[in-house]
Amino acid sequence: MAKILVTGGLGFIGSHTVVELVNAGYEPIIIDNLSNSDIKILDQLTKIIGYKPKFHKLDLSDEPAVKKLAEMEPDVSGIIHFAAYKAVGESVHKPLKYYRNNFFSMLNLLDAYYGKALNFVFSSSCTVYGQPDELPVTESAQVKEAQSPYGNTKQIAEEVLEDMVASGTNYKVISLRYFNPVGAHETALIGELPIGVPQNLVPFITQTAIGKREKLTVFGDDYDTADGSCVRDYIHVVDLAKAHVAALRLMEKPDFTGYDVFNIGTGQGTTVLQIIHAFENATGEKLNYIIGPRREGDVEKVWGDVTKSAHKLGWRAQLGIDEMMQSAWEWEKYIAENPLS
Ligand code: WQD
Repeated sequence: MAKILVTGGLGFIGSHTVVELVNAGYEPIIIDNLSNSDIKILDQLTKIIGYKPKFHKLDLSDEPAVKKLAEMEPDVSGIIHFAAYKAVGESVHKPLKYYRNNFFSMLNLLDAYYGKALNFVFSSSCTVYGQPDELPVTESAQVKEAQSPYGNTKQIAEEVLEDMVASGTNYKVISLRYFNPVGAHETALIGELPIGVPQNLVPFITQTAIGKREKLTVFGDDYDTADGSCVRDYIHVVDLAKAHVAALRLMEKPDFTGYDVFNIGTGQGTTVLQIIHAFENATGEKLNYIIGPRREGDVEKVWGDVTKSAHKLGWRAQLGIDEMMQSAWEWEKYIAENPLS
């Protein structure tokens, strides 16, 4: 069974990808420093996949530790690299923390496994597009001036990977540019862990609906959109997880060489107010929200052109907004009754 290293494998997207790797016949080996996840997710994953996946608690910015990992786990056929700090707002206040961790982690990993014929999947983000000039945004769109140090780490990491492949290496690399991942696994045993006050829309919605937050503030309704609120391309986290399996499969094909990049979204734009109404319709819950001022750094509207992913990656999102809202709500209720930490 092909072994796949999953860094950040106890995180939101990482844990869902571990499930899909097992479903696809791979053996995931989870690496996580637990800085933004909980060891109890390992037990949750065990309940879903039927066995306890291999786990190493490890900080990838610790070079000697990563070299030791490569000695302990030499025969991996691929790496899916999620491990990174990802809070946009925090990155503005603590840029060095973000540059150090996000770059050193990836460079240590690439160095430690250098020379092996590995398939490397990089967790990138639509944030590299900023506010696109044209919508839907395609992979060939100009990568814009990053809006945050977090976004900059994603942009520069993509360039590092492309340069590494161009220099002649037997790494094969695919960067997946995620749009907005939401929702949870159908078992409600894993989802977006509530650590601190949620920065993202959907966890804030579900925490408001369950009474953990008093109300949701919609950050602006004076944008040039259907109802004045921002537009995003929301994608179910299970669809997103499956895209990582598709990326490994593509790189396993003999005719795939080098580096490629794919948009991982649904191709549909949805406004904040439409998400709120979709949540209310899907769950029967009435949401307490107000309209507030715009949030600094928000782009007005972005959604992905997913033609290349459909044709070349052989992947397309299957789940709709309803399933995203229902699964997010089921997870919120589960975690309220079964607090993990
Ligand atoms: C979505 C929309 C907000 C909260 C970020 C990162 C991106 C990726 C996904 C890591 C926006 C509005 C939000 C709230 C609101 N993260 N909103 N009230 O900003 O599109 O993307 O998360 O890779 O890199 O930039 O996601 O969920 O924060 O916001 O009105 O309380 O919801 O203004 O329009 P975003 P988000």
